[in-house]
Amino acid sequence: MESHILASQLRCPNGAEASEIAQGMNEANSVLNRKCIDLLQLRASDSVLEVGPGNGAFVADMINVADNISYMGLDWSSEMVAEAERLNEHLVGLGRAQFQQGNSEQLPFEPQLFDKVLAVHTLYFWENPGDHLAEIRRVMKPDGLFCIAFGDRSFMKDLPFVPFGFALYDQADACELLRSSGFQIKNAYQYKESGLSNTGDRVNKTINIIISEA
Ligand SMILES: C[S@@+](CC[C@H](N)C(=O)[O-])C[C@H]1O[C@@H](n2cnc3c(N)ncnc32)[C@H](O)[C@@H]1O
Repeated sequence: MESHILASQLRCPNGAEASEIAQGMNEANSVLNRKCIDLLQLRASDSVLEVGPGNGAFVADMINVADNISYMGLDWSSEMVAEAERLNEHLVGLGRAQFQQGNSEQLPFEPQLFDKVLAVHTLYFWENPGDHLAEIRRVMKPDGLFCIAFGDRSFMKDLPFVPFGFALYDQADACELLRSSGFQIKNAYQYKESGLSNTGDRVNKTINIIISEA
């Protein structure tokens, strides 16, 4: 796939290729998503918001951590919302997972609704990241936790699709952005992973995971 098309599909999976793109993202990002789920410290009865879940491949992993966790996945791709609902039909039927189309720049939720918020590999696509972060903070409970994860600029800058609309960050940039949006950084992790890129090539990734309080 040409780099500009791959970039636009990663930003918002759409059309005939959306399902295959989501499958590729799940394979490339499974280690990271599982680490983030661990770091979210999910507890019984937590309400969770995920921004940009793609096809929701890791929702069951979250919901099964403790009793009575409720999950809302918000994605701006209608194809991903439909696919996530299909893949998680059982949890949706039980009322434990919901998916909605929307943009984190303007979240369709009441203030102080969620205990935990997760956003993996989405930060690059936000034109005004401070607006997205302010919205996320608004809908979090005061003692809630936010986990944001993204590839570090140091390796992302060499990926062929990145020139087509990705904003890149290192850990210091992202921590500064979070602080200026009112978050308190609790922990900032960085780890290296040799794995598949979305191009299908093997790549040495440096990944940042930042846990903040609202
Ligand atoms: C690169 S994919 C990552 C998917 C998944 N989180 C993972 O780790 O594999 C980005 C996903 O986030 C969605 N997305 C990005 N920014 C968003 C935003 N501000 N609001 C809602 N959805 C967003 C895209 O439609 C896409 O499904």
